[in-house]
Amino acid sequence: MQPSPYTPGEVARSVPGRAQQLAEVDERLSTLIDLGRLVGRIRVDHAARGFGKTSLLREYQRHAAARGATTVWVTAGEEQGLVTQIAAELRRVTDGFGDKTRAALRSRIETLQLSVGGPGIATATGTFHPANNADGDQSGARALEAVIKAATTEVPLVVLIDEIQSADPAGLRTLVYAWQHLQAEGVDVPAAVFAAGLPNAPETIASIVTFSERLAYRPLGPLHRDAEELALIGPARALGVHWSQGAVDRALEIAQGYPYSVQLIADAAWTVAGRPNPGGVIDVGAVERGHIAMQADLDALFRARWAVCSPAERRMLTAMANLGDGPVPRSAIAEALHTGSNQLSTPRARLIDKGLIQPADRGMLEFTIPGFGAFVHNNE
Ligand SMILES: Nc1ncnc2c1ncn2[C@@H]1O[C@H](COP(=O)(O)OP(=O)(O)O)[C@@H](O)[C@H]1O
Ligand SMILES: [Mg+2]
Repeated sequence: MQPSPYTPGEVARSVPGRAQQLAEVDERLSTLIDLGRLVGRIRVDHAARGFGKTSLLREYQRHAAARGATTVWVTAGEEQGLVTQIAAELRRVTDGFGDKTRAALRSRIETLQLSVGGPGIATATGTFHPANNADGDQSGARALEAVIKAATTEVPLVVLIDEIQSADPAGLRTLVYAWQHLQAEGVDVPAAVFAAGLPNAPETIASIVTFSERLAYRPLGPLHRDAEELALIGPARALGVHWSQGAVDRALEIAQGYPYSVQLIADAAWTVAGRPNPGGVIDVGAVERGHIAMQADLDALFRARWAVCSPAERRMLTAMANLGDGPVPRSAIAEALHTGSNQLSTPRARLIDKGLIQPADRGMLEFTIPGFGAFVHNNE
């Protein structure tokens, strides 16, 4: 009996199918590490939940660390704000720096804390409330710029930001202004920001900062067949266990390229097959029985998404689901609901914001998560 090597709901141990993303980031890391230059654009990989954003960002972090960069990881959305989160993490990693660098960095961080503040922070002279306006943002950006410079005097720095769509607007503005300044000055500051977020991240960020050219948005799609197959059979092979071809085919049909489902079906089949020893086989029967077991987990995810939808949003989802699996025209949804296309714009926008549907070609709409349409169809 061997424990499952699969990772449903956990950071993936490897990220097959993401070679292009990693190649692009590796190239940026060369700019950073070999040339000692700023990576001028903030990269944002975006997709619905379960597509592997956090796992990919962790892989970026491993690549950066392997090439000698200092890395700092934050999950945006905490109350203290994005910039304070970054500063706090930077403060933690300064322990590895030389005395002089550490002292310089710490004093810059203190200045930064004063200018961005958060909910009001205690100082020697009382409680300081930072200006909540464009001037405040600019001085915060200058202070953050100074921190980034101080942090990169010895080694290049990579800042990783997960869930960037949840960042506080002021923090995001400060970060993007700081990057704008660093870029404009043209001095060599070896720093980079790689981020991940939900599909609404580009729109959310565009509504907060004006210069979108500072950001490079990259949609993260489903896994191709070969990558999915690798994700299924690779971890088993390492434990001496074989997937039959029939089992692979059936599992891929079930997962539909959705990384979370790949892990769910693989893990469920592994368990049903009795957690095989070396020499064991996972056959199509195990996958079929695993399918039933995994459905509960997948339904739990879907139910949680459904629970946050308003009645109007639910009606729209139901109409879409009843129209079939693929992309559906807006007009067909409106017709099914006996309403005009304009009446749909609010629920449409909210559902896109929640990452449940996305625009497809030619004015059509589609579900973002494979299986969600079927769930809605069967449960309504
Ligand atoms: N490239 C990949 N191949 C196979 N499984 C993956 C891959 N990337 C992520 N996963 C798995 O998919 C699920 C979702 O991954 P996660 O990184 O948490 O996604 P997100 O941050 O987009 O919600 C996890 O179970 C993870 O182990
Ligand atoms: Mg995530």
